Amino acid sequence: MLNRLPHRLPRAVAGALLFSLAACLPGQTAKDDAIQKKVDALLRQMTLGEKVEQMEQAAGQPMYTPKEKADALAKNGIGSFLFFTDPERINALQHIAMTESRLHIPILFGYDVIHGFRTIMPVPLAMASSWDPALVERTQSMAAREARAAGVHWAFAPMVDIARDARWGRIMEGAGEDPYLGEQMAAAQVRGFQGKYAGAPDHILVSVKHFAGYGAAEGGRDYDSTNISDEQLQNVYLRPYKAGVDAGAATMMSAYQNLNGVPATGNRWLLTDVLRHEWGFKGFVVSDWESVGSMKTHGFARDEEDAAIRAVQAGVNMEMTGETYRKWIPAAVKSGKIPESEIDALVRPILAIKYRMGLFENPYVDLKKFQQETLSIEERTASRTAAEQTAVLLKNENHLLPLNTNLKSLAVIGPLADSKLDTMGSWAIHGDRRDTVTLVEGLRDSLPQTKIDAAVGVEIERGSATIFDEQVIPEKPTLTAGAAKAEAFAHAVELARNAEATVLVLGEAQTMSGEAASRARLNLPGEQERLLEAVVALGKPVVLVLMTGRPLDITWAQQHVPAILNIWYPGTEGGHAAANLLLGKVNPSGHLPVTWPREAGQEPLYYYQSLPQNPDNTEHRYWDASSAPLYPFGYGLSYADIRMKGMTLDADSVSTDGTVCVRAIVENTSKVAGAQVVQVYTHKRAGSAARPARELKAFQKVWLAPGETKTVALEIPAKELSYWSPVAKKVVLEPGEFDLWAGFDATATEHKSFHLTAGK
Ligand code: NOJ
Repeated sequence: MLNRLPHRLPRAVAGALLFSLAACLPGQTAKDDAIQKKVDALLRQMTLGEKVEQMEQAAGQPMYTPKEKADALAKNGIGSFLFFTDPERINALQHIAMTESRLHIPILFGYDVIHGFRTIMPVPLAMASSWDPALVERTQSMAAREARAAGVHWAFAPMVDIARDARWGRIMEGAGEDPYLGEQMAAAQVRGFQGKYAGAPDHILVSVKHFAGYGAAEGGRDYDSTNISDEQLQNVYLRPYKAGVDAGAATMMSAYQNLNGVPATGNRWLLTDVLRHEWGFKGFVVSDWESVGSMKTHGFARDEEDAAIRAVQAGVNMEMTGETYRKWIPAAVKSGKIPESEIDALVRPILAIKYRMGLFENPYVDLKKFQQETLSIEERTASRTAAEQTAVLLKNENHLLPLNTNLKSLAVIGPLADSKLDTMGSWAIHGDRRDTVTLVEGLRDSLPQTKIDAAVGVEIERGSATIFDEQVIPEKPTLTAGAAKAEAFAHAVELARNAEATVLVLGEAQTMSGEAASRARLNLPGEQERLLEAVVALGKPVVLVLMTGRPLDITWAQQHVPAILNIWYPGTEGGHAAANLLLGKVNPSGHLPVTWPREAGQEPLYYYQSLPQNPDNTEHRYWDASSAPLYPFGYGLSYADIRMKGMTLDADSVSTDGTVCVRAIVENTSKVAGAQVVQVYTHKRAGSAARPARELKAFQKVWLAPGETKTVALEIPAKELSYWSPVAKKVVLEPGEFDLWAGFDATATEHKSFHLTAGK
């Protein structure tokens, strides 16, 4: 008999339960019924043209839609705008819609609230490194509050695409490589953005994106096709989207790319059979940018009309820019190519969410609230805490870190050391770089008695324009002549020579990851490694702080630099957070949500691999390089010395309707408080299909006082052991033998086995 665990449910699970209870409250259902009646009544008054207008979203920046045109669209009754963030302009457009459009239907304003709005939080890949869904939920709820106060109703987030290739620029926007961690992060973000239900006050709607499989772009090349087997689609790629839907996502965004030969935006199997019929999704689907029209470019649709019709037939409710619906759908309905009832069905959830958000009664921004909610102390504190909890300590030889706070002098060097723009990271368009605290500033605030000398040493620049250049003016190099470059380099080395210790802040400029920012190489761009080598050659204490949106090739640094702290792109309060970490006011506790390669040629590299014929040799698959990662998935160090003392299972046999109960005993043998992430992996020894050597099934971040020992209880409901069998072509839960490991990364060694028996 299995003992029930006398502990609280993991916070993520408890949160999910709370949410589903809230969604089932009778009051909610009654409200939904009332909304449906209002929607039906409104639909009866709408002309076909007005319905199709609700299915359109236009880009609000003047470079896309000049002011007069935006005003005219509001008057005409457009469904949504994206990119408006000025509350006064939002009010003005809303006023046009509410007073001058025939039916006074409010406009939904959407924006890319990816990791903060004005107060910038760490990038999503960093947030996943917290392994703390409650923290992720909290930061996204703060971002939602700030955005809603400005008049934004809808975030084009979370991006939940599984990404297993660091060359892909958008790996930075997601939660990394693992489906289970991805599910937890997807659900946490939906809860954070939306609150108790879609449409809750002070919250915004989500758009879970990019449905589906966008992260598997071949060769890591953004926008390229994805070819994903059914087995991988079902067992890996679709899972985080489903978790978002289960958490109550109001909208989904269809991806740009071809998925197994069919553009996601024209994929009826995906958008209707799976999303609506199988998963029961009741919200609406917005296309990605012009992805309806681009189905012609894909060689899928014959022309624009065909593209519009096929997007409608697939189940795309709203078109994000492109205007193909406006141009072609009314005529297609009139000629009988699409029944009007199909259009009604697509418009219904758009109107319903506007009612649910209360926009018909209260469409305007309260400008006073906007002032109070923007960049508040609470938001800045959340940004700092998040950055502190997401940094990953990759190496710390001889306890070089934390640095001594009595240092007389410190050199802080590198192109990212004092760069406000880069500290925010990509997709922080509404953030104001002037609000941001850099590492140099953070360290100066924390060490007023220390002489801190800063220099760039080298500058870095992305060699080509980015798609964001018009919205975020990138910092341009100031050192153009060879002599000036050499002088800057020598000056930085000189500062390091004269200082007691050096912190080098290297990595990628924020333009180097994100959309359309894939790379073929993973090296430190420009001359950064040469600078690192020159400083290390001085033989003095050196700490490498990495600022990046993806794993980089830092193999040389791992061999020669004693301490490496990866802070990703930490956001508005990044400099304060990094200073607290470097000086030991806060103990690093982040763990990698991605396998960290040694070099680009190893990609895609991820832990969730099937067992090969000769598993003992997996580190030597290349004759000219190692095939082992530099750091495994789940890895992260602490200043505390926390060990796994043992692990037990409550029972060695569990039925298919039961729960596997794991107790891991962790001990902090050091004199400092710290955290570890206990991770549990399983392997199914045999079945109708071969399962991966390891699959993450549970985790919990645990904080320990100096000398403290804790027993961490983790539960794995047996249904978590099910999988989609490529033989049975359905989800199966097959009895049999399982291995189980507990530890602090994917190489966990504490091992037990258990038997899964058939339930009643
Ligand atoms: C295209 C991107 O793929 C998507 O993620 C984003 O939300 C939209 N542009 C709007 O900016």
